[in-house]
Amino acid sequence: MASAGSNPSLKMSADTTEDARPAPWQRAATGANLLSPEGNLGVTIFEEMTTLALSTGAINLGQGFPDEDGPAEIKAAARSAIASGANQYAPGKGVPALREAIASHQQRFYGLTPDPDTEVLVTTGATEAIAATLLAFIQPGDEVLTFEPFYDSYGAIIGMAGGKHVTAPLLAPDFLPDLEALESSFSSRTKIVLLNNPHNPTGAVFPEPVLARIVELAAKYGAIIVSDEVYEHLTFSVPHIPITSLPGAGERTITISSAGKTFSFTGWKIGWLTGPEHLVAAVRTVKQFLTYSSGTPFQSAIAVGLGLPDEFYTGIAATLGHKRDILAEGLRAAGFGVYNPSGTYFINVDTAPLGILDSVDLARRLPGLVGVAAIPVPVFCHPEGAERTRSLLRFAFCKKTDVLEEAAERLATLKDRL
Ligand SMILES: Cc1ncc(COP(=O)(O)O)c(C=O)c1O
Repeated sequence: MASAGSNPSLKMSADTTEDARPAPWQRAATGANLLSPEGNLGVTIFEEMTTLALSTGAINLGQGFPDEDGPAEIKAAARSAIASGANQYAPGKGVPALREAIASHQQRFYGLTPDPDTEVLVTTGATEAIAATLLAFIQPGDEVLTFEPFYDSYGAIIGMAGGKHVTAPLLAPDFLPDLEALESSFSSRTKIVLLNNPHNPTGAVFPEPVLARIVELAAKYGAIIVSDEVYEHLTFSVPHIPITSLPGAGERTITISSAGKTFSFTGWKIGWLTGPEHLVAAVRTVKQFLTYSSGTPFQSAIAVGLGLPDEFYTGIAATLGHKRDILAEGLRAAGFGVYNPSGTYFINVDTAPLGILDSVDLARRLPGLVGVAAIPVPVFCHPEGAERTRSLLRFAFCKKTDVLEEAAERLATLKDRL
């Protein structure tokens, strides 16, 4: 990321909101060119809030990274891979052991059988998988349909690829799309429908009828389905259904996942995608000119992680579900309206019951008011969606239990400080 430099729109103070120019994160979220005419690159809202949390000593429930490392045996596997000399370029499509482990994982959890040689591609995090996929298939003017709110990199990459970003709203309280209205978001120019399930930032987990309707419409309009499933193992008492497992989906779907979320190694940036050979080959062509390959010893270590017993996977979901409950209770006590998530490590609240209608403004004030940082949901939206989600705020609960308890206590004082 570039530094803020002298661009006045990058200032962190309250007067940022009075600047007539869109903030850099707003440009990124709408997929506009990130390089401004002055040559400044933008900072994201995540960076802005993390900086604010650091400067105020606030508990950072903004950016979604765990504050504890993942399993010791995976770390040991990385150390041993480094010690044994796995330190040069990995093959472009990923080390064979990891590709095989990904294929076995798909078989074990979903009964899917991707060929590790031709239908699996290891990437530098899910972020590169998303970028390489969109750059592989989008021509200028093609439409990409995402649900809104949407993960911020989608808008940015669609913009870089010259695509047109179309959105379909996810509606409170369940944050699912209106299946009757969904077809109106498709057109003959829809090249990709890009979904994120389980969904960041809302925590929604799409049930089968929603997924079936997406497949039906993608087939009708000849669109490729790209499914970002990085939170596939983080669901609470509801099953995760990969859209590719539905009838008619397999031949047109690329599924993306990441070790960062499942194993709490977000800094390793090991991601992957699976899909039919003709789609994966196109993405591989682009990927070789992005990073070519990365993280050789970490790839070997994640192969070990994917082989962990079922108890590991049920354990992470149960632990996280408990953390969700701690934070949800604190947020309710603070007076927010709480939307309980079915998946991911994010929880959304409505600030309106506290008499606050602008969550962007509250997010900027919250660290100073009570020492907790969060992310406003409108930053995951285009202007119309931002209006619809104006009073929503997202908190991450992938933190130690005592940190969440402390955050809940601090938030409980909010009413008295407003
Ligand atoms: C929905 C979604 N997709 C992709 C990513 C990025 O994953 P990675 O860190 O593996 O690049 C994230 C990270 O927050 C995410 O929330």
